[in-house]
Amino acid sequence: MNDEDQKILDAKPIADEIDSELTLRPKYLREYIGQKEIKDQLSVYLKAAKQRDEALDHVLLFGPPGLGKTTLAIVIANEMGAKIKTTSGPAIEKTGDLVALLNELTAGDILFIDEIHRLPKSVEEVLYSAMEDFYVDIVVGQGETAHAIHFPLPPFTLIGATTRAGMLSAPLRERFGIVAHMQFYPVSDLKLIAKRTAEIFDTSIAGSGAAELALRSRGTPRIVNRLLKRVRDFAQVAGKDTIDEQIVDNALNKLHVDARGLDETDLKYLNTLIHQYKGGPAGVNALASNIGEDSETVEEMVEPYLLQIGFIQRTPRGRQATQAAYEHLQIPYQTGLS
Ligand code: ADE
Repeated sequence: MNDEDQKILDAKPIADEIDSELTLRPKYLREYIGQKEIKDQLSVYLKAAKQRDEALDHVLLFGPPGLGKTTLAIVIANEMGAKIKTTSGPAIEKTGDLVALLNELTAGDILFIDEIHRLPKSVEEVLYSAMEDFYVDIVVGQGETAHAIHFPLPPFTLIGATTRAGMLSAPLRERFGIVAHMQFYPVSDLKLIAKRTAEIFDTSIAGSGAAELALRSRGTPRIVNRLLKRVRDFAQVAGKDTIDEQIVDNALNKLHVDARGLDETDLKYLNTLIHQYKGGPAGVNALASNIGEDSETVEEMVEPYLLQIGFIQRTPRGRQATQAAYEHLQIPYQTGLS
C-alpha cells in the first residue's frame, strides 16, 4: 500500500466521527429534546419572522458547554430555510476577517459565532452597526487620505453562543433581540436523548440502561452521546445485544465516571476544596492552580454542574463545599472549623 492509500485509510475514522455528529444532531425543533421554554418561545419568533418574510432577530444562546447551542443554531437555520455560516470568536482576529464574512451574506442568512465572548474588541465594535442597522463603515487609506466607506449589508441574523454571558460587553449583549439561557437537562430528557442516539446507531438499549447513562451524564447531551459510544463498545466486545444497567455501570466505572457523573477532575476539585481548604471558602484561582487546571476551565467546565447539583456554593469569599458533597464523598461533614 502506498502512502496516499494509507493516508486515506487513516483519515476515515475522523470522517466517520464528523458524520456521526452530523446525523446525531436534530434538524428541526420538533426533533430537539428538552429546553421546552426556549423551544416554545423560538417557535413563535420563527413563525412570526417567516410570516413577515423577514430575517429572524439576532439570537444569543448562553449556557455551559455541550448543551446544544450549535445544534440549536443549525435548527434555527433549518426552520427558517436559511443558509448558515459558522465561525467562532477566536477565529476572527481582525475587523477585515469579519467584513469578509459579512460580505458573503445574502438576505436572511444566518451568521453563527461560537464563543462570541472571545471576539477582539475592535471586531466587536464593527458588529454594532452591522447588527443594528445592517451596515459597516470601513476605513481605507492611512493618515491624510484615510476615509470611511459606507458598506450596506443584507438583513441577516447573527446567532452568538457563549458559555460566559457575563463576559459579553453590554453594548453587544443589548443588540440581541432574543436571548436564550440554556439549562442543564433533567435525567428524563437525557434518557430520551440516549434512546434516540441508540436508535440512530442501530443499538438496543434497555430503559434501565438509558436511565443509568442519563443519571451519570452531568445534565449534558454531549456527554450522553460520548459515553453511549463507549458503552456500546463495551457491550459489543462483551457480546451483549442490549445495553442494560449493568453494562452501563461496568463501563462507566472503568471510565472513572462515578454514580453522579463526576469524573476525576470533579473529584480532585471537591477533594482539594474539602481537604486543603477545610471545605472553603476558597478562591477559584487558588483552587484551579492546586488541581493543575486553569481557572477558565474550572469556571466553565467544572463548577457549573457542581453548583447545579448543589455540591458547591459560590459565596462572596469564595467556593464552599456543601454537606451533600461531603456525603457523596463519604467524608464526615464538619462545619465551623475554619
Ligand atoms: N442530541 C444532542 N442534543 C440533543 C437534543 N437536545 N435533542 C435531541 N437530540 C440531541
